[in-house]
Amino acid sequence: MADDEMKIRVKNVYKVFGDNPAAVMDKVKAGASKSEILEKTGHVVGIRDVSLDIRAGETFVIMGLSGSGKSTLIRHFNRLIEPTAGHILVDDVDVLKMSETELRAFRRKKVSMVFQRFALLPHKTVLDNVVCGLTIAGMGKAEAREHGMRQIEQVGLDGFENQYPKQLSGGMQQRVGLARALATDAEILLMDEAFSALDPLIRNDMQAQLKELQERLHKTIVFITHDLDEALRLGDHIAILKDGELRQAGTGADILMNPADDYVARFVNDVNRARVVTVGSLVEKAGLLPLSDANAANCGALLEDNEAIILTDEGKPRHVVGQGDRHRLDDLLRSKSAMPAAVCVDGGMVLEDGFSILAGSHNPLVITNGSDVPVGVVTQQSVMRALARDAAG
Ligand SMILES: Nc1ncnc2c1ncn2[C@@H]1O[C@H](COP(=O)(O)OP(=O)(O)O)[C@@H](O)[C@H]1O
Ligand SMILES: [Mg+2]
Repeated sequence: MADDEMKIRVKNVYKVFGDNPAAVMDKVKAGASKSEILEKTGHVVGIRDVSLDIRAGETFVIMGLSGSGKSTLIRHFNRLIEPTAGHILVDDVDVLKMSETELRAFRRKKVSMVFQRFALLPHKTVLDNVVCGLTIAGMGKAEAREHGMRQIEQVGLDGFENQYPKQLSGGMQQRVGLARALATDAEILLMDEAFSALDPLIRNDMQAQLKELQERLHKTIVFITHDLDEALRLGDHIAILKDGELRQAGTGADILMNPADDYVARFVNDVNRARVVTVGSLVEKAGLLPLSDANAANCGALLEDNEAIILTDEGKPRHVVGQGDRHRLDDLLRSKSAMPAAVCVDGGMVLEDGFSILAGSHNPLVITNGSDVPVGVVTQQSVMRALARDAAG
């Protein structure tokens, strides 16, 4: 991935809270534990040597238990907090090097925050809450109203623009918070436990709405949660923090299938993998063989290494020859027209959605990319193996 596709780069960031953080950095860097540092020096290690890259247009989730450093980390991104050591680059600009004026413009235009407790002004209407940042920034009233109404529609609150926050449910109030953040047209949304205070059903709706908004808007969203299901649902990438340290960063599937350490493994142990793991992540290479050339000899040779996909003259998957077919290749290839049709699925399908298809097919599935080109196969066995980890823990 080229550097210019990275929106936010966090480089070896440390944050120590206390009277003289610089004086305890040697100890922190030497690896003294958070509790040891607190006991010996009275300083709190908020973040320890965290490096992360956040891509433009993705939803990046930071998760961890309470006190793990999530809020401390995200507040570095718009320099509400300055690191004790390390750097934060946004669009390749070091936020620590910004002048007061640059920083003000950066906070007004480039990044927007959505807070857990909504932080709405109680005596202002929904619309006024949404546009207050715009008018402060100097936008004319009429233009701000028009712009604000568009954001209110985006979050499905049209008709409520003249109500006051206390007349709205928690979920609706958070929609106002979201509309207010969107109103600045910021490229980056920072959402610190934005949905954590909501009831489960409402929270579910908000997650769906955020996903739907993001498909249209392609913002760079940094979303904090302590809820793994929420992280897996929303995050293109997920970072797991513990005691201020980054334990793992990767896609949800990466983290579930290859947890970096015992802590992460325990963290993800109870998750339903079938909802997260895609068939594409289990894909195995397959040999390709045109139907007109296929015979027992060349097909058998391919099966030495992989399963084989037999292609039509147009290059479309026609049939999959699996390891179980090895001893009956002659029979199979004698009546080519009778070969069962290959079952093709898109690599992005999660296992849960693939179960009934898998159950209905004797042969491995052909995995295709977005443009229906075969990229390999997934066998029933590899699916079972992926899920068996669940039981094994
Ligand atoms: N202003 C502060 N002064 C001292 N300690 C702080 C301050 N802010 C956060 N901390 C400490 O830093 C650690 C990380 O806190 P925080 O980032 O709020 O965690 P999270 O958001 O994951 O719950 C905690 O141990 C917390 O007590
Ligand atoms: Mg927090």
